[in-house]
Amino acid sequence: PADVRELLTSRIHDVPDYPKPGVLFKDITPLLADAKAFSVLTEVLAGLAERRGATKIVGLEARGFILGAPVAVRVGIGFVPVRKSGKLPGATLSQAYDLEYGSAQIEVHAAGLAEGDRVLVIDDVLATGGTAEASVELIRRTGAEVAGAAILLELGFLAGRERVERALAGAPLDALVTV
Ligand code: PRP
Ligand code: MG
Repeated sequence: PADVRELLTSRIHDVPDYPKPGVLFKDITPLLADAKAFSVLTEVLAGLAERRGATKIVGLEARGFILGAPVAVRVGIGFVPVRKSGKLPGATLSQAYDLEYGSAQIEVHAAGLAEGDRVLVIDDVLATGGTAEASVELIRRTGAEVAGAAILLELGFLAGRERVERALAGAPLDALVTV
């Protein structure tokens, strides 16, 4: 709804020229620091998780952890982290993806997800879609089903949606705010 969108939008601050000149950084820390806004965000995401029949929340390091963990607690389902390379101690599956310059790798514990799980992927920002796309592919390789992806803020001008929707293959992509 419009009032929720307005509240969330007002708590995401624009920081020009960060981390480098010409880039407009979207800072979600004012939203996190506002108890009402953070709680509204958590409720909206929890509603989505329930509608999708999610049995697990996957949060994408690092900001997806902050948004996803309270949703898992609220819904009463488990939280599974997708981490940047080299941070998980157990047996992992990993997925490489391209960045603007070079490439990166993300990992998940192989034992964290299994066939029969329905996963809602949560992150803060959808930009090029590379992170979310790689995560969806990674999650599928565990045997789990991706029930959808939920993003706080979509940067519409970067066309990340197309890429993620292709990876989601019919599962819904929800963005609470689009700019
Ligand atoms: C940011 C953001 C998303 C991702 C979106 O994470 O939190 O996860 O980039 O970009 P993309 O759609 O082009 O992949 P980042 O890796 O910068 O750092 P974080 O650890 O602070 O979340
Ligand atoms: Mg991130």
